[in-house]
Amino acid sequence: RTQTVFGVGDRQAEWFVVGEAPGEQEDKRGEPFVGRAGQLLDSMLRALGLSRETVYIANVLKSRPPGNRDPKPHEVEACLPYLQRQIALVRPKLILCVGRIAAQNLLGTEAALAKLRGQVHVLPPFGIPVIVTYHPAYLLRSPGEKRKAWADLLRAREVLRGHGA
Ligand code: URA
Repeated sequence: RTQTVFGVGDRQAEWFVVGEAPGEQEDKRGEPFVGRAGQLLDSMLRALGLSRETVYIANVLKSRPPGNRDPKPHEVEACLPYLQRQIALVRPKLILCVGRIAAQNLLGTEAALAKLRGQVHVLPPFGIPVIVTYHPAYLLRSPGEKRKAWADLLRAREVLRGHGA
């Protein structure tokens, strides 16, 4: 890694986005989601009337895994306390987890993404609702899934407004 990539955004944000790990661009710039996937994330946020400045964005891993490989369990173990502390300090009203790796590690489950989507999880010990959706890098490869991602985002907004299931 070149540097740690800690997080960006409003420290009093209502929305907290959790991704997997920094990629090459993020490692260079020291900021999460600044590459192509980040541009799509920005558009998704914009469609909800949000921006990088009004939400908080962080990853499970704070350092780029070599060649963007999946995080190793000991890497997750080393980084997760930082994410937990970020969540504790920001105290968002809603957490949006993008992708399987982020969701599984934050929620402590091995369930498939298809199972994790479409329900409202609650993150202990904070009691914060968590919505899981596709990773924007996946949506770049499979644009046909964007409709489902949009449905997830609308559900997240409903939950935040207190009308969600
Ligand atoms: N993918 C992620 O999960 N996080 C980033 O910061 C960039 C790409």
